[in-house]
Amino acid sequence: MTAKRADFPLLASSPGLHYLDSAATSQKPRAVLDAMMHYYTHDNANPHRGAYALSARATDRYHQARETIAAFVGVRDSACLIFTRGTTESLNLVATAWGRANVGRDDEIVITGLEHHANFVPWQQLANAVGAKLRICDVTADGRVDIDQFRTLVGPRTKVAAFNHVSNALGTINPVREMIAIAHAAGAIVVCDGAQAAPHLPLDIDALGADFYAFSGHKMLGPMGCGVLVGKRAVLEAMPPYQTGGDMIEYVADDRSTWNVLPHKFEAGTPNVADAVGLAAACDYLQQLGMADVRAHEQTLTALATERLLAIPEVAVYGPPPAERSGVVSFTVGQIHPHDLATILDELDVCIRAGHHCAQPLMRRLNLPATARASFYVYNSEADVDALVAGVQRAREVFG
Ligand code: ALA
Repeated sequence: MTAKRADFPLLASSPGLHYLDSAATSQKPRAVLDAMMHYYTHDNANPHRGAYALSARATDRYHQARETIAAFVGVRDSACLIFTRGTTESLNLVATAWGRANVGRDDEIVITGLEHHANFVPWQQLANAVGAKLRICDVTADGRVDIDQFRTLVGPRTKVAAFNHVSNALGTINPVREMIAIAHAAGAIVVCDGAQAAPHLPLDIDALGADFYAFSGHKMLGPMGCGVLVGKRAVLEAMPPYQTGGDMIEYVADDRSTWNVLPHKFEAGTPNVADAVGLAAACDYLQQLGMADVRAHEQTLTALATERLLAIPEVAVYGPPPAERSGVVSFTVGQIHPHDLATILDELDVCIRAGHHCAQPLMRRLNLPATARASFYVYNSEADVDALVAGVQRAREVFG
């Protein structure tokens, strides 16, 4: 089933708008906005604290949201699903709290050249701080992880392998099952950045088996400022907390403290209940569409856009073939700078992202200063592909 554009107030009120930047953030259906408004107008109080019915209701809403989201992404032990501000915070949590406790001098951290800065810089900084070695797996010319090199990079000194499930810049769907198996066989833990996977692919995090899996709510129809870190219970229990303060403690003596049980140990301070409720509503919405259908719809549009763009002289599309990408088309048009292209498209009400996509190490490896990126989601249609193609043709006319 395809989402109705009318379900999305921003799109419904802007009929001529072609929103092709969902890899950056998605639009929100009314069901999500209504759920958040309902929480604030009926159930709002500080959860876990008040001895009154309203606070108990807020606690219940927060708990229910966690259960809904956990079920949607295939996490059976919902206490292992921790709310964060987003993927960036989830990954920093792991690199800082787990990393500082478990990675030392001469240990090795394996990442790939395909990472978003959020799954690159935290590991780089950890390696620099503790004297560990950062090993970066190459990317092939068609924008995949060089899996043969990955196999040789991961070894007995590897403490952690961190990689994305789907590349934000190219849309490459990585062979994460194989990569997880390679890392686990070497005794390393696995951190998977699922920011671009959770919104677009059917997901069973437990079955995947990564030790940590992170994603963001705002890219999957939920609100900004609410994301998730899923961790294996034994790993989460053994590691120290990330932030300290209210709610995450069990007992505070003058000179030491003990920690609350999961998930509270990693959720210091007043939680972001309304946004968790909104994200749960987004999961319900996607569940109704069916993630297999979401994937099929995006594949159709991605294949169509790729084919039609490649029919235009001087267009180059990066990454593997459409069937092996999420709903992303990353491209250049001759010598036209992607920023100029995006400006021309904007004049035609077509929204795309242009630049390095927070993936400078990848752009260096592909020898590209920047690309233009169109990204599709549940509310897009062939009309958006038509507008994109017309805009690229117009840019070629303008720039001769
Ligand atoms: N990570 C987001 C993107 O790729 C912001 O655009």
